[in-house]
Amino acid sequence: MKPEKTINENISAVWEILSKHNTPPSACVHSYGCQLNVSDGEKIKDMLLKMGFTLTENYEKADMVIFNTCAVRENAEDRVFGNLGILKRCKEEKPHMIIGICGCMASLEHVTDRINSSYKFVDIVFAPSALDKLPAIVLEKLSGKKRILCPDQYKNGEKIPVWELEQKRDSSFKASVPVMFGCNNFCTYCIVPYVRGRERSRKPENIVNEVKKLVSDGYKEIMLLGQNVNSYGSDLEENIDFPELLERINAIDGDFVIRFMSSHPKDAGRKLIDTIIKCEKIGKHLHLPVQSGSDEILCKMNRRYTIKKYLETIDYARSFIPDFSFTTDIIVGFPNESREDFELTLKLMKQVKYDNIYSFIYSKRSGTKAAEMTDCISDDEKSRRMTELLSLQREISTENYKRFIGRTMRVLVDGKSKKDGFMTGKSSEFVIVEFEGSESLTGSFVNVEITEAKNWAVVGKIKKEI
Ligand code: SAH
Ligand code: SF4
Ligand code: F3S
Repeated sequence: MKPEKTINENISAVWEILSKHNTPPSACVHSYGCQLNVSDGEKIKDMLLKMGFTLTENYEKADMVIFNTCAVRENAEDRVFGNLGILKRCKEEKPHMIIGICGCMASLEHVTDRINSSYKFVDIVFAPSALDKLPAIVLEKLSGKKRILCPDQYKNGEKIPVWELEQKRDSSFKASVPVMFGCNNFCTYCIVPYVRGRERSRKPENIVNEVKKLVSDGYKEIMLLGQNVNSYGSDLEENIDFPELLERINAIDGDFVIRFMSSHPKDAGRKLIDTIIKCEKIGKHLHLPVQSGSDEILCKMNRRYTIKKYLETIDYARSFIPDFSFTTDIIVGFPNESREDFELTLKLMKQVKYDNIYSFIYSKRSGTKAAEMTDCISDDEKSRRMTELLSLQREISTENYKRFIGRTMRVLVDGKSKKDGFMTGKSSEFVIVEFEGSESLTGSFVNVEITEAKNWAVVGKIKKEI
């Protein structure tokens, strides 16, 4: 049997074909979902550029469109199928257009079955575990094959180093660096472990070398990514955990800020907090998804912590920095969540005083344990609870952000704000800061004296260098 071609051989073979075109074909990659998926999208873009495509944001004009999808909630799936309808019309006018579906939805059998039977204009489908197969798939497609469906390779137990692929970074000063992939936690509502496979950690030296290179290229924010970064290292031969990885990254020379997400509360202990406090480059903020304020619901969710244990972590951090910033994820309307359960969530929010929350109405995902649970709470009641929760959080945020008035915050400038003449950025606490300033400040650190608090941001005046 002929050995399979390497990824680089496939890239070169596509390049040979495309270099004969007068104008190189263009590709549009659209990523949905979490930052890990966005980072996969950047890997896809890197491979496409190396193959000889140009990149465009305009999918109507592109010769190839790839939707890098998310399956975490039903509305994410609906959006993709809706947008596929638009692509179908584009392809009718431009029959040579190649349409690809990848990402988490491509790992789900009900999705691939539906694409197979009802979306015949989709040319290629590949799961996240088959990311490195993209050059081979494009080569086959250019050689005339009609449809290519690349199955999930994790299902065969294979370990493929897709995580060492390079990324074509969308930003020149903020970089995401995946440290681990997959999830072993099986929270009962969540599809991620089914579509992303088991936990796999990248080797620490590969991560450190990547960050060194990014910092020397001028990157100012390094966001370490994983579904649960706190279990980093448990599958590696080397004896290393996430706080130790953070220390190694903090020791890299340069002026940059380190962030990370997500942390599972069952694994975010004192060692993590000590490291955040000790390491000057780590943002003084922790995203600690609680999901619910009710121990009974947490148990049904298989979260494996209690609110008492959760609050211990918060109190420990605030014993060093009294207004240490916390953000969280909350699910409203988990099957049979009672009014009392919901009120425990509101109580927790008032207690912790989160700077921001990301809240979601529970979405049933077939294949998960929670999908089997009976549920007698109506959709209307779930929506009412969501409205109540959001309005409470608005009050909490406005009150919280007042603590910054009069302080000077060091801000990494993201770019222009929606308000004319204003710029926007984030502080070490991950708080949005707006101030009057010029666009040339984008990508640099500035000191801003805070004068006003809103419910989503603080506003201030730029201070001359201190
Ligand atoms: N690994 C991360 C979360 C990844 S998914 C963590 O554990 O923190 C991001 C968020 O989506 C979750 O924190 C949860 O709040 C939400 N989520 C996941 N599955 C969901 C579902 N079935 N319905 C509604 N929200 C869900
Ligand atoms: Fe999903 Fe839970 Fe894993 Fe997060 S930790 S990805 S919520 S199963
Ligand atoms: Fe969505 Fe997959 Fe991320 S399901 S949230 S894109 S890991």
